[in-house]
Amino acid sequence: MDDSKSLSERADELEEYQMQRLEDLIVTRSVLYQLGDGEQPQFKRRPPQPGQRLLMGEDTRLPKMPEKPTLTDFVKLRFSIGGQQHLLQSARLARNQGLPEKIVFACLVHDIAVNGFIRSDHGYWGAQLLEPYVDEEVSWAIRAHQALRFFPDEAVGYEYPKLYIRMFGEDYQPEPYIVAEYERAKKHKWYMTSRMICVNDLYSFDPDVVVAWEDFEDVIGRNFRQPSEGLGNDNTSSSHMWRTLRRPCNAL
Ligand SMILES: [Fe+2]
Ligand SMILES: [Fe+2]
Repeated sequence: MDDSKSLSERADELEEYQMQRLEDLIVTRSVLYQLGDGEQPQFKRRPPQPGQRLLMGEDTRLPKMPEKPTLTDFVKLRFSIGGQQHLLQSARLARNQGLPEKIVFACLVHDIAVNGFIRSDHGYWGAQLLEPYVDEEVSWAIRAHQALRFFPDEAVGYEYPKLYIRMFGEDYQPEPYIVAEYERAKKHKWYMTSRMICVNDLYSFDPDVVVAWEDFEDVIGRNFRQPSEGLGNDNTSSSHMWRTLRRPCNAL
């Protein structure tokens, strides 16, 4: 032991060593992202050293979650500030327009997957994540916004987003399954609920406006069936997805 160092210096060194060791033990990149690099994932994963174990449990690098986490705990502790403001500002816009509370709530959680789970096909994942806890109309609308956002509806002032031209190029054409989904959604009784998500989907969020989750606590309370045992500790068709959100780097 190096006696020339103070107790706090030694404590700092120990913490750094433990953090470094922990880094080694965590599978930091998912197989899906590794596939994006065009390589066989198993060749890129560093094997654990003798005596090391892979992470199975709470990830100490992430904010600690309560034992019985609520929807608000998940958004506050697992979403980026920008992602949270996108949802909050969309909901604020819907509320300012006097839209029904169900639509305000749908706007509040419409991109829950892109912010906390996975970007690809985010409307479908988001709907599935929420389905056991929300009104069927809300999850239907979130699923359909995946397709509707690519198609204008001049009757309600929805244009093809200029951001998509920048992001995907002038010549981008939605894939056939998206076109088919749009055709089905157009004829659906809840079409306008989903369309209102698109209308209030704020692509240029206003940095001068800061909206808090507390402003929507009552809306969440009336529109989200919070399980008493905590999201992920319950037994629904999407409990495992909440658990993955909570502990995204578990080895298995
Ligand atoms: Fe979206
Ligand atoms: Fe959005």
